[in-house]
Amino acid sequence: MHPSTSAARSVGLNKVYGAGETRVVALDNVSVEFRHGEFAAIMGPSGSGKSTLMYCMAGLDSVSSGSAAIGETEITTLKEAQLTRLRRDRIGFVFQAFNLLPTLTALENITLPLDIAGREPDQEWLAKVVAAVGLGERLEHRPSQLSGGQQQRVAVARALATRPEIIFADEPTGNLDSRSGAEILTFLRNSVRELGQTVVMVTHDPVAAGYADRVVFLADGRVVDELTAPTADAVLDRMRRFEAKGRTS
Ligand SMILES: Nc1ncnc2c1ncn2[C@@H]1O[C@H](COP(=O)(O)OP(=O)(O)O)[C@@H](O)[C@H]1O
Ligand SMILES: [Mg+2]
Repeated sequence: MHPSTSAARSVGLNKVYGAGETRVVALDNVSVEFRHGEFAAIMGPSGSGKSTLMYCMAGLDSVSSGSAAIGETEITTLKEAQLTRLRRDRIGFVFQAFNLLPTLTALENITLPLDIAGREPDQEWLAKVVAAVGLGERLEHRPSQLSGGQQQRVAVARALATRPEIIFADEPTGNLDSRSGAEILTFLRNSVRELGQTVVMVTHDPVAAGYADRVVFLADGRVVDELTAPTADAVLDRMRRFEAKGRTS
């Protein structure tokens, strides 16, 4: 789509929670860029600031200082109503919990964001997304009649339905067995490769990170490394080296 421009970017981002004895520096001067058409992973141990980074870059949480942009739009200065609109119109979200509405069918869940935005679906795009979700006649089923993996596929399709500029996913395979997890990761990767989407995925799982085009490593709220065309083994190896360093320093 816009191959040379950034889909999301942070410059010198800081996020501090609490004050005094309970003060936690969750993000420490984070500058990072995600490009259009990229499948990127934010990787790091539990508590390293992955979710905080995603929330700050996606306008779900406020920053303490620094800047964050979606495309050309600086988001740290937006008012709440503008942020709500930006998230609705330009960003797709996938979380560890599938967050589907139980009374709607799978298909109704997928088209819900379009209904809420009052937008006419791009039928051709929607047909592609619905075909890619691979649920066949189960599209008419309710979430409780679907497996965890199928529910998360619906949640990914829901994020894709509005054809957002960028999808942020926080531990999307965290509640799934490895086989269902592999299906979701393949679906996300195909949405980048075949549908031209941009996906930023937070994960602590080297296998999940191995599906991405690029991995950004966080430790103690800082970007400490980056890996292009990663394999699960290379990611695991990198993580082990950080842990060893942490123990000796
Ligand atoms: N709402 C909050 N209030 C206080 N501390 C928080 C809050 N959210 C996260 N933290 C702290 O910020 C750090 C980073 O958290 P988080 O971004 O959730 O890490 P990760 O997603 O990598 O596991 C942790 O030390 C965590 O305890
Ligand atoms: Mg997290």
